Parts: sequence; C-alpha cells; structure tokens
Amino acid sequence: MSDFVSGFWNIYVVGIVLVSIIGCGVFLWSQSSATTVEGATTGHVWDEDLEEFSNPLPSWWRWLFYITIVFSLFYLAMYPGLGTYKGQFNWSSTGQYDGEMKKADDQYGPIYKKFQSQDIMAVAANSEAREMGQRLFLTYCAQCHGSDAKGARGFPNLTDNDWLFGGMPEQIKESITKGRDAMMPPKGLKPDLNGDQIKDLAHYVRSLSGLASDSIRAQRGKELFAPACSACHGPEGKGTPGLAPNLSDKIWLYGSSEDTVTETITKGRINRMPAWGEFLGEAKVHLLTAYVYGLGGGSKEVAAAAPAAAPVAAPVAAAPAEKK
Ligand code: HEC
Ligand code: HEC
Repeated sequence: MSDFVSGFWNIYVVGIVLVSIIGCGVFLWSQSSATTVEGATTGHVWDEDLEEFSNPLPSWWRWLFYITIVFSLFYLAMYPGLGTYKGQFNWSSTGQYDGEMKKADDQYGPIYKKFQSQDIMAVAANSEAREMGQRLFLTYCAQCHGSDAKGARGFPNLTDNDWLFGGMPEQIKESITKGRDAMMPPKGLKPDLNGDQIKDLAHYVRSLSGLASDSIRAQRGKELFAPACSACHGPEGKGTPGLAPNLSDKIWLYGSSEDTVTETITKGRINRMPAWGEFLGEAKVHLLTAYVYGLGGGSKEVAAAAPAAAPVAAPVAAAPAEKK
C-alpha cells in the first residue's frame, strides 16, 4: 500500500473493503424473517408446478454470518488491512520477523559469543560447537557443497586435503567471509590454440595424474603447457594456491575424462563462492570455519607449505582480462 504515490488509491481500497463488508450485512438482513414471509414464493415456476420459496434463512446461520462481519471489522481495526492504516496493534510481518530474530539473538547470542572468543582449533574440538556448526552448514552451505561437505561437480569437496584457497583456519575463514572467484580463461594464455593442440594438452593434463594418454600427444601437450598454462597451474601442473588448482593430484572439480578436460580447456571455467560475512556475521562464520576445518581436510602440514592466499588473489582477476 505504501508504494502508492497518491492518497487516492488508499481511499479507493478502504472504500471497497468497507462497502463490501457493509454490503454483506445489508444483504444478510434482507434475508431475515423481518423482511421475508414464511411460505411466500419468489414467483418462479419450473416444470409446471415446481415453485421457489422465499423463506428466511435459518437464524443460527445468519447469526454466524453476523459474527464473522463483526469479527472482520474488529480485525481491520487491530491489524493492517484497510489501505495504509496500520491497525491498533501496529503489527507488521517485518516487525514480527525482526522480533523473532532479536529473540533468537538474545537466546543464542551469548553461546555464539563464547565460541567466537575461542581459537578455531579449540572450537573445532568442542562437540557442542561442532553440532551448531553442522546445523549452520546444512542450512547455508549444503545445497552447493553437499550435506556431507564432499562437494559435487563444480563445487569443491571440503573434506579432502586439496584446497584452492588454503585449508588453514584464516584461509577458510576468508573464503567464507569474502567469497572466492576462480576464473580459467578459455585456452589459457594462448587464445589461438587449435583443436588438435587442445587435444594434445588434454592428453598431457591426464598424464599428470597417471591417467591413460597417448605419449606422443602428451609430449606435444607438455610443450604447449609451458606458455599457455604454467603461469597459473605451475610448470608441472601442481597448481598455485589461490590462483589455479593442482592438476596432478587426481582430484577433479569438473572431471577427468578426455571430453571434460577438453571442454575445460576450450571453454574455460568460471566459478564463484558467495560471500557470507555480512549475512551471517562474524560469530557464525567463526563456527562454520571451525566446522569446515574440523572435517579433517584442513591440515597442519598444509599450513607450513601454503603461502597466504591474499597476495595471489589479484592475478586471478588480472590475468584473464589482459589476454582477452
Ligand atoms: C552457491 C553455491 C555455494 C554455497 C551456498 C557455498 N559455497 Fe563454498 N564454494 C562454492 C564454490 C563454487 C567454490 C569454489 C570457488 C572457486 O573455485 O572460486 C566454493 C569454495 C569454498 C571454499 C574454498 C575451498 C578451497 O578449495 O579453498 C570454502 C572453504 C567454502 N566454499 C566453504 C563454504 C561454506 C562454509 C559455505 C556455507 C556458509 C559455503 N561454502 C557455501 C560454492 C558455494
Ligand atoms: C589465469 C589462470 C589460468 C590459466 C592460464 C589456465 N588455467 Fe586452468 N584453471 C584455472 C582455474 C582458476 C581453475 C579452477 C576453476 C574453478 O575453480 O572453477 C582451472 C581449472 C582447470 C582444470 C579443471 C581441473 C578440475 O579439477 O576439474 C583443467 C583441466 C585446467 N584448468 C587446465 C588448464 C590448461 C590445460 C591450461 C592451459 C591451456 C590452463 N588450465 C590455463 C586457472 C588457469
């Protein structure tokens, strides 16, 4: 209602509602015994002698109807329903939602706060926190990463030790808070690759993880890989944290078949993890980080090896743009 710019529509709606209700009342009264005569007919006759009587409605039925009319007037006085009039109770669906959220915050806020002040390792080891984290994960993350967090085609498995953006608590937290973008440009850094060369590259990529491949094609692919792909995937295809995945670890986001790898190289891939920081707030993100970390994929050995994810974020966006 508040979307209307002119006050006319407000009056129009109020008018229609009130006239309809009063109309119902008048119509009802016109059907009462005060206005109709027991035994009188309407004058309609069918099939020679079939007549329509005009008896008053049974009074229990009429009174029931009068009660609904009184109720509707009371309801419209208390709750929004008459144009822009907000009703005596000043109720609104957003108000009710905010109230419920506030109640939940008051109730659960202190529990979240307690965990927020603890270290991720400690939270990950706490069974109550893990249960809370799991519930959050099932609500907000499972539709993409699966209820077991094992991922699906295009959505990474969060339980293995293969991380594009890092498996350390701070890195996982950054992934969740800010979201992540990954972009592989079509044909890597060599937009002029032809179909045969792409096939060679697919054979080389498959050979990196020991899959069946034609050795001559793989050899030719290896030579193409250096200028077209190694800037992101590294000289041996072992990946660059935060920039491009490891192609030699037998873990595939899209699939390892020759067709899928060929498609990846030909068309490129764009992937996005939405940012949750603002929506969920620091406390819930903290619990989720601990939950994901606690799934076992976030390992301590990786910690020492993986450089911080932040500095490599820039080339992800810059590299494809330059070459397009
Ligand atoms: C709309 C689908 C979607 C939802 C919902 C989603 N994610 Fe993701 N997530 C992705 C995609 C896609 C990627 C891979 C991003 C990329 O490669 O750029 C990803 C990546 C990640 C990563 C980084 C993985 C790595 O290898 O470094 C983490 C951690 C993560 N998600 C956790 C979560 C958590 C926790 C939630 C719930 C709050 C969540 N995700 C919800 C799609 C989603
Ligand atoms: C600008 C950096 C960049 C370059 C150059 C690049 N890639 Fe990628 N590549 C990526 C990123 C990022 C992903 C992950 C995309 C995602 O998460 O959706 C990826 C994914 C892949 C995958 C899918 C892996 C899987 O697990 O399914 C294959 C295969 C691949 N690249 C091969 C190549 C080949 C071959 C070349 C050279 C022709 C190449 N890439 C060049 C960034 C790059």
